[in-house]
Order: sequence, then C-alpha cells, then structure tokens
Amino acid sequence: MRVAAKAKLNLALAVVGKRDDGYHELRSVFVTLDLADDVRVAPHKRLEVRNTLPLDGEDLAARAVTALARATGREPFAFVSIRKRIPLAAGMGGGSSDAAATLHGLAQLWRVDADLMRIGAELGSDVPFFASGARAAFVSGRGELVRALAPPRDPIDVVVLRPPLRLPTAEVFGSFTMSDRVAASRVEQLVSAFEQGRVTPDVIRTYAANDLLAAAERQCEAITTWRTAAAARGIPLFLTGSGPTLFAVADDRGDAVRVGRILTRAGMRAHPHKICV
Ligand code: C5P
Repeated sequence: MRVAAKAKLNLALAVVGKRDDGYHELRSVFVTLDLADDVRVAPHKRLEVRNTLPLDGEDLAARAVTALARATGREPFAFVSIRKRIPLAAGMGGGSSDAAATLHGLAQLWRVDADLMRIGAELGSDVPFFASGARAAFVSGRGELVRALAPPRDPIDVVVLRPPLRLPTAEVFGSFTMSDRVAASRVEQLVSAFEQGRVTPDVIRTYAANDLLAAAERQCEAITTWRTAAAARGIPLFLTGSGPTLFAVADDRGDAVRVGRILTRAGMRAHPHKICV
C-alpha cells in the first residue's frame, strides 16, 4: 500500500491557554502543502520501519502500527518504508503526516474500520489533521478537534523558506509566554474567510499570524535575520507551527518564482510550492 504523506503549513496559529496536562490549547488554520513523503506499508512477520533520514528516537510510524494493532486486536506486525522529502523538526508536520499515512495504509491493508483521527491523537497533536484527509481545516483543542474548511477553488502559491536547522517543538512551547499572544482574532477572521469562500493571497497575507513566533525567534536567531532581510525587500514572511520554516504568500506562480529569486539572491533557501492541494 503506497500513501503520499503531505506536509502542512499553519496559516494562522493562536495559543489560547495552557492545560493541566502540560499541553497548550490551540486554534489554528492548517493547510496541506504539495511536498510529501512517500510511505509504503506491507505485510511482514514483525514490525520494521525504514526511513531514508535518520531520526533521533523511535519513528512515530512504528507507534502508529502498534496503536492501530491495539485498537483492532491485530498483531503489531508490518513493514513501513518512508522516503523523506519533508525536512525534520521544521514545523511542517512531516513525522505526524508519516504516522497518519501509516494508519491509512495499514487500515486498508488489514481491511479494518477504525477511528484513525482518535488513534492519531494518541500519537501526536498534528496527526488528527493529517488523518482527517482535509486540505484545509480549523484545528483546535490540543490538535484533536479538526473541522474541515472548503479549500479555495485553485491552490494558492507560496514560497517556503527553510533555515538549515531543526527546532524541537517542545523547546518553542517551553519558551512561549502568554504575553507573546497576537493571533487569536486573526485566526477567527481567516476561518470566516474560508467559510465565506473569499480566501485570496491578500486575505491570507492580512490574517497570517503565529503566537509561537516570538518564542521561536528567541530560540533561533536565523528566523529574525531572515524575516528582517525579506521585509527590507517588501516580502512579509510568516512562521509555520513552531518553526523554523517560514513562508511568503504569492499572488500566482509567476509571483512565487519572482519572490523565490529575490529571497534566494538574499542568501535564503527558497522553494515555490502550492497550498490546499
Ligand atoms: O503532540 P506532540 O508530541 O506533537 O507535541 C510535541 C510537544 O509540543 C509537546 O511535548 C508539548 O511540549 C508541545 N505542544 C503543546 N501543546 C500542543 C501541542 C504540542 O504544548 N497543543
């Protein structure tokens, strides 16, 4: 079984509180990105996960196999092979998407009907969005409440920038303080724009905001340097998830290529992509 595990961007992300379990209560607009890992799932006599990139610790895909097996009363045996294209610890949800793709692939292989979003929520906060299969969604709670939003008729062009380093999510949340918050009303306005079918590049540029930006900048100087350099060229850059990946929203494909060239010339690693695909 072969499944494409797409990356995501958070167009807007608000942290609305800290919970008793140590996690944060979020409100966010998630969209898929046309960058995906290749996940293959096959029957096997034990559990084996192969990944083209070395991970620190256990692969979330292995935990996905165990969780689905437990939920459906099967032996936790499968072969999972992951061809990585999504950078690790980048704020693009790569590991979570691989886990959701593993759940989907395995559920088909085993012909079982299970609540993959609920099982996904045990694995990580971003997994339910990917398990939902939505191209755009309003995500709340710790990440487990996913309401699909109608994507715009045509995918929107963006430029994705990847500072060449990893930023662990837990470190960014650890540095977050409630006084960093700026995004709550922007999230609401962006959700309304989706609901009313009036999402355009301009609307996204107006409402894109991320409460984790200040914390991510405190952890990673490159984010400030890159945002300042891009702003000096008239290009606002937004943070996805807990970073360090940044993105610019373009008017169309030609504009994305133009913006990508300007940023590449200024020394950043910029790649044109599409969202809501
Ligand atoms: O759920 P996941 O394992 O992806 O979360 C990684 C880390 O991010 C958690 O250990 C926690 O520190 C932080 N986090 C949070 N609130 C969320 C999601 C993640 O504090 N809603």
